[in-house]
Amino acid sequence: MKKLWGGRFDDNTDALMEQLGESVSFDARLAPWDIRASIAHAHMLGARGIITKSDARKIIMGLEAIGRDSAAGRIAWDAALEDIHTNIEAELVRRVGDAGKRLHTARSRNDQIATDVRLWMRDQIDAIVARLRAVQTALLDCAEAHQDIILPGYTHLQPAQPVLLAHHLLAYFEMLQRDAERFSQARRRVNVMPLGAAALAGSPHPIDRAMVAKELGFEGISANSMDAVSDRDHLIEFCANAAIAMMHLSRFCEELVLWSSPAFGFIEISDAFATGSSIMPQKKNPDAAELIRGKTARVYGDLVALCALMKALPLTYNRDLQEDKEQVFDASDTLQLCLDVMAHMIPVIRFDGKAMTRALREGFMEATDLADYLAARGVPFREAHETVGQLVRHCIASNKRLPDCTLEELRGFSPAFDRDALAVMTPEAIVRRRDIPGGTAPRRVRAALRRARATLHAARRKKA
Ligand code: ARG
Repeated sequence: MKKLWGGRFDDNTDALMEQLGESVSFDARLAPWDIRASIAHAHMLGARGIITKSDARKIIMGLEAIGRDSAAGRIAWDAALEDIHTNIEAELVRRVGDAGKRLHTARSRNDQIATDVRLWMRDQIDAIVARLRAVQTALLDCAEAHQDIILPGYTHLQPAQPVLLAHHLLAYFEMLQRDAERFSQARRRVNVMPLGAAALAGSPHPIDRAMVAKELGFEGISANSMDAVSDRDHLIEFCANAAIAMMHLSRFCEELVLWSSPAFGFIEISDAFATGSSIMPQKKNPDAAELIRGKTARVYGDLVALCALMKALPLTYNRDLQEDKEQVFDASDTLQLCLDVMAHMIPVIRFDGKAMTRALREGFMEATDLADYLAARGVPFREAHETVGQLVRHCIASNKRLPDCTLEELRGFSPAFDRDALAVMTPEAIVRRRDIPGGTAPRRVRAALRRARATLHAARRKKA
């Protein structure tokens, strides 16, 4: 098999070299974007008279046909031809003859692959942001449907203070909101066209880069040809954004695992997203949540692999760069699958409000509010903290809860306690008092729910 670059070679490539060097087994998925970029390039070559209009027309029709056939799975790519670019070019020459041999004028595979990946990534970012919105919608629907449920909020996984379930769920809504913003901001840096950089120094042909950029929907063209073919910081940024989003999903999944354990009993995961045990008949395991937590690790791996790949590469293109693709593909596929699972799993979670209410009875979560009560009555907060600490010790020793104490008992610890001290301690009263922006008071959470809904509406309108 004659290589595209075979002119100066006498001997054949070793089979092992072919095995090491081929990328078509994983970059074939770039075919639709590679073809789009080639069509735009051919339009420009024809328009600028670099090739004849008739050759340009033949190339474009050939590429369109290859696009259709490849989408229908009618083309078998050949690993001996190395990558998707050479495969498509060889197929084009087979179909349209000599005209096909003129397509590669004024470009290199170096600016070609850089362009393909940016086009691909732009589409993936749009898909990821849409999927993030779907998970946000699922969280918000749940939060709206369970506005009355109060559950323990934890620090150190120890009961800390009661919070609204809706407030807890909205915390994840906020995280995913920042994830969507991060991807959208990165999109602007991705959407810059490298084509025209050619191998590394630019092209001597009178090309019109702006024309190609316009046809491909790029917002700008790269300012430096050497940077354009050799940097991959946008891939690293993409994987970093994916890693952060996965971290957020993983934290929520960790909570689902905890909450679905009988030790908590706060939720039941739907059968559709759980599995059983081959030996223990009673088991129902939250596998989807565990797998998402596990897959987070591999996306971190993708990010670290890319950072390591880049750190010692001199300018400009080095073949090492071929190893960038499987990492971004994996990060993108993994994140999109996990987002889809979350969007489908969350709406069918059964929340057990009674179990959450029961859990409020443990852990002395009224203590902070009792201390605040004393502080509001002029006791220095440090002193109030100490007093309530002793009261908690007394409760532990006498095996009772803070609200079980009588007024006389309370007054034994501080004369500042009054009749209304007992009313301070209900979970409803405790959350109601957190009535500041960002707090868990029901009216603040209702406002947050409205804002979240408006955010999603605005995002949908912007897309339309
Ligand atoms: N398959 C190559 C890659 O993924 C395309 C660029 C090849 N360029 C080269 N000079 N061999 O990076």
